Amino acid sequence: MTDFQSVHGAAPTGVWAAPGRVNLIGEHTDYNDGFVLPIALPHAAKAAVRLRTDGLLRLWSEQGDGQVTELEVEGLAPGSVEGWAKYPAGVVWALREAGYLVGGADFWFDSDVPGGAGLSSSAALECVVATAYRDLYDLPLGNADLAQLAQYAENAFVGVPCGVMDQMASMCCSEGNALVLDTRDLTQRQVPLDLAARGLRLLVIDTRVKHDLADGAYAELRAGCEKAAELLGLAALRDLAPEDLADALDRLPDELAPLVAHVVTEDARVEQAVALLDAGEFAGLGPVLTAGHASLRDDYRVSCPETDLAVSAAVEAGALGARMTGGGFGGSVIALVGEQELAAVEAAVRAAFEAAGYAEPRTFTAVPSAGARRLS
Ligand code: GLA
Repeated sequence: MTDFQSVHGAAPTGVWAAPGRVNLIGEHTDYNDGFVLPIALPHAAKAAVRLRTDGLLRLWSEQGDGQVTELEVEGLAPGSVEGWAKYPAGVVWALREAGYLVGGADFWFDSDVPGGAGLSSSAALECVVATAYRDLYDLPLGNADLAQLAQYAENAFVGVPCGVMDQMASMCCSEGNALVLDTRDLTQRQVPLDLAARGLRLLVIDTRVKHDLADGAYAELRAGCEKAAELLGLAALRDLAPEDLADALDRLPDELAPLVAHVVTEDARVEQAVALLDAGEFAGLGPVLTAGHASLRDDYRVSCPETDLAVSAAVEAGALGARMTGGGFGGSVIALVGEQELAAVEAAVRAAFEAAGYAEPRTFTAVPSAGARRLS
């Protein structure tokens, strides 16, 4: 491992961290002004940072190619940066676009959030940069402001039209809690989620099928939802009440109806899940998760054979429920499992993957962890 000093020639001013996330339920609802329920992972992007006075951004990552990427802050523009460096560079650009004329800095990054696994490794990178700059420049920005700036960086600088869930999760989640978030006005509430106290575990299964939200499929889905809302005369699909769904589906073209069916039922599932968490009935979450997966598979069509198999193998082996998490097209599955069944569920998923000829999945259990913060 290389440290900040050996890359940049002096000690850093401080070290920050921002986590990846899994979303318990509420998928593809955030760009429809709907509800989401993420937790932060213990896995995080760390950044050691020291400001520079010459307008240069010098970026180095333990996960990079061993080279420092050097950029001029003044020259940053959408499309001007390639590879992982576009995430940190995009945040610096977004801060400046918002009128905070921040300068350059030396950065050393190290992240253990698996990339391309639907666990928000890019949001973690964006949010750790946003948090470090906020602290170093003493910017009058709250966590939700930083999340929105990071989302703007991803939308306008990186070119992925994502919603705000991942950045809000990385900035605003807290240890021991799930984050209930209304993505319309960013109203948030922390709900305690001590699964271990109920003898439960949250198993994360990374299928190792790499997803890439920049490839256009995500943008198409988002555009489809916006088109459907427009046809229905609504500001967003969040405004369609479940009791009006059947009538709305009759009025929509065939290709849009299933998207709307997913979004409306998914918002209802978030509400159901939050009520269960509030009541401390964590095991009741299981069927809600599995129903969410069926909706993503059959209506929204963002699952893939590997995520479908992980879900069915986990449930057959005794998981209380399971679903893909994140944008889809590969990535990870979460399974709610009793601690007695954990080993059997993991083994069953591995065996099913081997029998199907799929790559060996990576598995770990997740507990709700801290959001973005300064470490030293
Ligand atoms: C990705 C996006 C999020 C959200 C999810 C799907 O993770 O970055 O904004 O839309 O997909 O719920």
